[in-house]
Amino acid sequence: MNEVRVFAPNTISNVGCGYDVLGFPLEGLGDEVLVSRRNDSSLVIKEITGADLPINTEKNVATVAIQALLNALDENKGFNISIKKSIPPGSGLGSSACSSVGAVYAVNELLNKPFSRKELVPFAMEGERSSSGQAHADNVAPSMLGGFTIIRSYNPLDIFTIPFPEELLTVVIYPKVEVKTEYAKKILPTEISLKDGIQQWGNMAGLISGLMSNDFDRIGRSLTDSVAVPVRKKLIPHYDEVEEAAMKNRAIGFTISGSGPTTFAFANDSETAEKIRSSCHSVYEKNGIEVLSFVSKINTQGAHIL
Ligand code: HSE
Repeated sequence: MNEVRVFAPNTISNVGCGYDVLGFPLEGLGDEVLVSRRNDSSLVIKEITGADLPINTEKNVATVAIQALLNALDENKGFNISIKKSIPPGSGLGSSACSSVGAVYAVNELLNKPFSRKELVPFAMEGERSSSGQAHADNVAPSMLGGFTIIRSYNPLDIFTIPFPEELLTVVIYPKVEVKTEYAKKILPTEISLKDGIQQWGNMAGLISGLMSNDFDRIGRSLTDSVAVPVRKKLIPHYDEVEEAAMKNRAIGFTISGSGPTTFAFANDSETAEKIRSSCHSVYEKNGIEVLSFVSKINTQGAHIL
């Protein structure tokens, strides 16, 4: 095999109370990364479509992630990389993560799979470090593994997936304004009160238990966050209005996707999901803000070869 084309899905991370530790991939939306062998030892980005991104290999997340993988193997093979992006960075849908994941998954295939999916996650995290200043795993891990993913610990890295209700639908609302993750991380508090901690731990337990026992009311009650959302919602135009539209239309819960500006709601039937989608979409349309909205299931496949 001399070349491989990989699809890596976009993701929703944090999922309310799980800042930097919860995430899941979406269906049908993601990056395509084409990687081919070279005869020399260079990494070369041939083309990036769908977003204006650096082709400088020290700055591009895909090549930063590939380099981390090659360093771990003490390998100096060269590759050409082309990336077709579905969504630009700064969307809150794990755009940089898809490129890093697709790139390391493809190179791993071309090297005859020295690493498992889970073992590839730390390399993709290096891409996140270069784009947001922190090697967070809550976008790369779900994009790589598929399914509802938990990062129980960063040091040592302990990542696993949990079951979730099959009927669970995600309504995604992406107003086309940019929120840089690096900035959205900087504005967060560095400490939280014991009171907020207690609330967060309760919600975290409630959300995971609700997902694992198909208890939609419990999922909804737990989909709140006292740490990131109160600060970040100010960066998202019409946040309160969109939330009100979703909840009026019987969303199970509503919150920010990653660091925003995308928000999402959970629903458990497609008719309700469509009502939520169109009412949230209208809020932005009415205010002259370009918006992309769609309904997706949780993707269980993760990165794969096309
Ligand atoms: N967990 C990260 C954050 C996700 O909230 O900063 C970035 O998309």
